[in-house]
Amino acid sequence: MTNFDALTPEALRARGSMKWNRRGPEVLPMWVAEMDYPLADPVAAAIDEVVARQGFGYAEVDDRVPRAFADFAARRLGMTVNPGWTTVVPHVLAGIEIAVDVFTPKDAGVVVTTPAYMHFLVIPGLTWREAVEVPLLETPGAATVDEQWHLDLEGIERAFANGARSLILCQPYNPVGKVFSREELAELARIVARYDGWVISDEIHAPLTLPAIRHLAYSEVDETAASHCVTITSASKSFSMPGLPCATVSLHTQAGHDRFVTNAHPDHLYGATTLGIEANVAAFTGGDEWLDGALAKIAQNVARTKAFVDAELPDVRYVPGDATYFAWLDLREAGLGDDPAAWVLDKGKLWMNPGGDFGANGKGFCRLNLATTSAILDDGLGRLKAALDAR
Ligand SMILES: Cc1ncc(COP(=O)(O)O)c(C=O)c1O
Repeated sequence: MTNFDALTPEALRARGSMKWNRRGPEVLPMWVAEMDYPLADPVAAAIDEVVARQGFGYAEVDDRVPRAFADFAARRLGMTVNPGWTTVVPHVLAGIEIAVDVFTPKDAGVVVTTPAYMHFLVIPGLTWREAVEVPLLETPGAATVDEQWHLDLEGIERAFANGARSLILCQPYNPVGKVFSREELAELARIVARYDGWVISDEIHAPLTLPAIRHLAYSEVDETAASHCVTITSASKSFSMPGLPCATVSLHTQAGHDRFVTNAHPDHLYGATTLGIEANVAAFTGGDEWLDGALAKIAQNVARTKAFVDAELPDVRYVPGDATYFAWLDLREAGLGDDPAAWVLDKGKLWMNPGGDFGANGKGFCRLNLATTSAILDDGLGRLKAALDAR
């Protein structure tokens, strides 16, 4: 059994990651999407095996990752994946970039809903297309994430009417943590189909759907959605191994798959590593027990954070998400302006992602990474309170 409280800040810094080393030891890093947990045993064993055989030549990409992902998706995500329509790519953002290029006409826009995982705002430009921002609709004061955030379906329809032909979906949604409902996504599918468009669905956070909630893959919404859906994922986020590149792009029709492999440039598909491939196979096939443990720990941290914020931080609003290990903290009433994360970093030496990095409607929010130990979480929450007390 993994001890999810085992690692200290010193041990985490010694791993050499960006999260723990970009700033000095006086700053507690609870920002970028990396977990503070020991690697899953099956993944560690797979990596040891690659190292022992010095398996560092050009990777032979076969169907083991697609088959392992398809089994995992059926077992844990309620999702049908055809390994024959699944292509291995270097990493998720690379897969999104290729999919945008293949499935969006050259002069068409790409809808990005905000607040957005920041790279989504950049990717369309990398393929010489315009990112068309459509902010999520917010219901102020809502008690649950499902009530709080909604796709602006009218805004999305307008964007497609004005020439957009694809949309980057994040299901579950980084940063707000929502798993969109079937009704909401079915309506999205009707709009996209009307314009012969595509939905590029980044589902990297799907395995991190919290125990009481169920993931809903966009491809599972209905046949219309499946016919224009590109699903992109990797075990890298849910098993915290983003330094081991390997991801998958799945289409849900033969025609979609043919279009993808015919139009994607082979040089762009190339780049998954032997370590990434073996780590993904090991995680998808043998990682369930570790993942269950990680999810239980994250759920505990969500409850702990919610209780702390409600009791100690009257100017902060925290609506726990359905999924991901992020708390999307609303500090708009805290009197710290558009970038409260800068104040908290300065006064509390706690590093969260500034909400404004996720788009204009993220201003006044901070994204706090909860995939950590109890001791680090308590330290982080204490620093947040100290920073707010210093106003
Ligand atoms: C929604 C989402 N997509 C993609 C990524 C990055 O994936 P990759 O490192 O495989 O490109 C992240 C990382 O945090 C993410 O949150």
